[in-house]
Amino acid sequence: MDVVLVAVKKDVINEYISVVKESGLNPLIVDVDAFAHENMYGINYDIEPDRNVALLNIGASTINMSILKGGISVFTRDSSLGSNLHTEALQREFNLSYENAEKLKRGELIENVDPDSVGHVIESASEEILSEIVRSVEYYRSTTMHEDIAEVILSGGCALLPNFAAIIAEKTGVETKVAEPFRNIRIPKKFDLSQINEIAPIMSIAVGLAMRKQGDR
Ligand SMILES: Nc1ncnc2c1ncn2[C@@H]1O[C@H](COP(=O)(O)OP(=O)(O)OP(=O)(O)O)[C@@H](O)[C@H]1O
Ligand SMILES: [Mg+2]
Repeated sequence: MDVVLVAVKKDVINEYISVVKESGLNPLIVDVDAFAHENMYGINYDIEPDRNVALLNIGASTINMSILKGGISVFTRDSSLGSNLHTEALQREFNLSYENAEKLKRGELIENVDPDSVGHVIESASEEILSEIVRSVEYYRSTTMHEDIAEVILSGGCALLPNFAAIIAEKTGVETKVAEPFRNIRIPKKFDLSQINEIAPIMSIAVGLAMRKQGDR
């Protein structure tokens, strides 16, 4: 039996629990991003034996990368980098508040900023994130006698940046698709589908977490 051991500082867990409780909810299960991501993949995608798929979740300040082989996690790596780098670069370049830099990143117009110059700033702020991803992919390849990665599935806020998936594909040489966490989930009509589709890649971890039940294995 292969066993995965996960350790987390109590402080971190307690902080999450208190946020959930303060919002009036009662947490039943605590899970790890990488496992939730894997569960999201399992319910939405066809799993082929021996096929390596890299799941990438790039948020505001963390990258979680896991590689699944035949749907089972064989490699995970977290790094403390994320799309805050883009926000900070926009703040510096255009002398903006955090809020305005966030708006600019999402494609909104900001006074006195030429929208044509935004892409370049975002691109250069992406470099650190991209080289971290390339390093992880190369590390995986080197430890597995150059096993091929068939595709990258991209989740998290970075997936919403124009062209980000294409840039990852270019740098890693691996076909990269934006995650579709609601692919196999029936959504009641009362919800606005276009709004859900717009933010879908940010919801990957939440969908994976929502698949868990108290007492499951
Ligand atoms: N439409 C958008 N276009 C570009 N970036 C966006 C968009 N929406 C959100 N983001 C960015 O995505 C990031 C948040 O992504 P996500 O929700 O995946 O992160 P998180 O889970 O909150 O953070 P972390 O996992 O790092 O703790 C923020 O940096 C935010 O600015
Ligand atoms: Mg996250």
